[in-house]
This record gives sequence, C-alpha cells and structure tokens, in this order.
Amino acid sequence: MFTFLTSGESHGKSLCGIIDGFPAGVSVRVEQLDRDLARRQLGYGRGDRMKIEKDRAEIIAGVRGGKTLGSPLAFLVRNDDYVNWERVMNAAVNDPEQVAGKLVSNPRPGHADLSGVLKYGHDDVRNVLERASARETTTRVAVGAFAKALLDHFDITVTSHVIAFGGIESDPWTPQSGIAPGQISELADRSEVRCLSEDGSRRMIERIERAKQEKDTLGGIFEVVVAGVPPGLGSYTQWNRRLDARLVRALVSIPAVKGAEVGTAVANSALPGSRVHDEIFKRGGDEPPSAGENHVGPYYRKTNRAGGIEGGMSNAEPIILRAFKKPIPTMMRPLWTVDISSGEPVKASTERSDVATVPAASVVGEAVVAIEIAGAFLEEFGGSALVDIRANYENYLKRIG
Ligand SMILES: Cc1cc2nc3c(=O)[nH]c(=O)nc-3n(C[C@H](O)[C@H](O)[C@H](O)COP(=O)(O)O)c2cc1C
Repeated sequence: MFTFLTSGESHGKSLCGIIDGFPAGVSVRVEQLDRDLARRQLGYGRGDRMKIEKDRAEIIAGVRGGKTLGSPLAFLVRNDDYVNWERVMNAAVNDPEQVAGKLVSNPRPGHADLSGVLKYGHDDVRNVLERASARETTTRVAVGAFAKALLDHFDITVTSHVIAFGGIESDPWTPQSGIAPGQISELADRSEVRCLSEDGSRRMIERIERAKQEKDTLGGIFEVVVAGVPPGLGSYTQWNRRLDARLVRALVSIPAVKGAEVGTAVANSALPGSRVHDEIFKRGGDEPPSAGENHVGPYYRKTNRAGGIEGGMSNAEPIILRAFKKPIPTMMRPLWTVDISSGEPVKASTERSDVATVPAASVVGEAVVAIEIAGAFLEEFGGSALVDIRANYENYLKRIG
C-alpha cells in the first residue's frame, strides 16, 4: 500500500515526509521535486513569505543513484525563515519575551484558529496556525512529485490550470482547444495566474490588483486533468474504493478548497440524461479521436461529461476535476473576532499572508490527484518492483484489447 505521512510547522526548522509502499526501480531526481516545489511558490497575489522561502527538497532515504530502492522514502524541506523564528519555535527552550511578542489570541474567522485552540487546549493560537497553515502542502507537493515519477513510466500525466479567479472566468480545457492534456501545465506555467488564455490572465490579474488595493482576498476554481489512464482504476465494489470519491476527498483536503466536481457534475444535475451520458464507441481505425485523445483500451467516447469516471472507475477518457477554493482567511483589513484571553471583541490577527493562492493551490491539486492515481494504479497492477508492475500492466492492456 502506497501511504505517506508529513510533518512540520510553518516556521519550524523543517518540513518532512515519509512514503511507504513505493516500488523499486522508479527513476526520481531531486530536481523533479524542486521543480514542483518552485511551481507551488509562484502565482500572482502571493505574499512576502514566498519571497523568503526558496523551497528545495533533500531526499534522505529510499533513493540510490536516481532510482527508488523499494524501501521507505524520506525527504526534508527546510524552512529558510526558521533563522528568524529560532527563539520562538525551538523544540527545546524559547525566549519568553519573543514568544509573548508572537503570541496570537485573536483567532481568524475562516481559519483553524478557534476550533484548534479549543480542541487541543492551547492558549496561544500560534500552536494551531503553525501546522494548520498551508505551508503543509509543500510536503504533499513533494510526495506528489514521487507519484508523478511513477506515473511517468506509464505515460500518465497529471496537469492543472486555473479557470476562475475572484469571479473572473476562463474556459475549461476541452480536447477541441487544441492543447494536448499532457501540455496543460506547461502552458499554464507561462501565466502568472496559471490561466491558459491570455485575455483571462490579464483580467484575473486586474481583479487581484483591485482586491489588493481593497485589502481583500480572493478564491477561485482550478481544473486538474489526468490523461493516459487505463479503464478500471478504482472500483464500485466498496464505497471507499470509488475513484471519484477518493479524488474529491483529496482535493477537498487542500486547505481552503471547499468543493470539487468530477466532469461537468454541477451542470449535469440540471440536464436530462440524454444530454449528459457519454455514448460509447469501439475503435475501428478511422473513427474520430476520443473526447480526450486518450488511447488506452478499445473503446472511446465523443463527449466526456462524466469527467472520465463511471461507477467509481476510470473509463479511459481523461479524468477532469474542478476544485473550488474560498478566499484566504487572513485579511489585511481584518474581520471582527473575540480575544480568547480577555473575551473582548477585537480585530482578527494579520499574520503575513497571501492575497490569493489559486495558482499555487492548482499545483497542490496536481500533487494530491497524482498521489491518488498512483495509489489506485499500484492497487491494480502493483508489485514491489517496477518491472513487475509493467508486466502486470501490459498483461492487462493485452487482455482488454
Ligand atoms: C497554497 C495555499 C496557500 C495559502 N495561503 C494562505 C495564507 O497566506 N493565509 C491564509 O490565511 N490562508 C492561506 N491559505 C488557506 C488556509 O490555509 C486555509 O483557509 C485554512 O487552513 C483553514 O482551512 P479551511 O479553509 O480548509 O477551512 C492557503 C491555502 C493554500 C492551498
């Protein structure tokens, strides 16, 4: 079983992750991790913190000479900002004056602060926000890079782009856009808001600038596209094996992502079945390409409103997911809250913060989706060594024709 754990506080010494159940023989270079870590730090609307942190992973176990060993993988991502927090976040002894100076007692509406202090019995919100911070997603992006490295061996790509920002919309990806699914991220990375359209990018940036001037924050929608998947990942046989459920859970586990849809789920709910379900065709040779140029297996669809998943299983069309992110809770013009030490009404804390992080969240979205797809792939074709997984996969492809 492909599992992982992450650890680390936002201003602590280091973030770290351990992955277990990852096969031997997968090619992984630390540059692949660093590339995605850097992509997570970009995006119009980020705050000063991201200028301080230049994330780099250090693989400390499980890889030798660029190939995984089959033993547990471990990595670190150090927090460069720790030098400024050493006397507040030290595991042993801290400077009481400095700790008091950084104490937070005014929980932010929309954040983990209030429920966190109540649940864990803290009187300093910092003890909550240090881990509840989306800095945690750094480690999941690194785990996702390992997952992508595995999927690379089977030509499965996981890409993303932003389709709405603060109410400004841009087109979702379709095969008719002329963009191969595997190229979506490369093109999106050229835009500061990870939007595929130039006009959309310009309008989104204008919207962010306005929010900045108004000292407000924004949310948005990003799309994740998985291509090259064979039919049959996930299963209908138990509720928790359903691939759509797993992917939606993974997306909603990203801080501030409050909803996710598979295919055009929301629009489908208002349409009759005749305009929703994707008709099935068998490949004959000169038929039109499938809805997403996915060429795994003998069947294809001309539409993909199901988003590539039926009955909790991939159906060999590209998997299309959309995630809905709320605006960031830390506001430079803070909302009202209650001071937990005095009980008095006060303005919420204004920890250094971003204005909008939809582009970064979309990179995290790629990672969490890649982790789930890799997990489902290993459950289906798994083995301890890549060579056996390949043989299992090829055998399956041969059987389904
Ligand atoms: C990449 C990324 C960066 C984020 N940066 C911030 C930030 O700078 N300030 C903030 O208040 N929230 C930020 N958030 C959102 C909060 O972490 C999130 O709203 C909070 O943990 C509460 O969880 P919930 O919104 O899922 O309920 C960010 C989210 C993501 C995905």
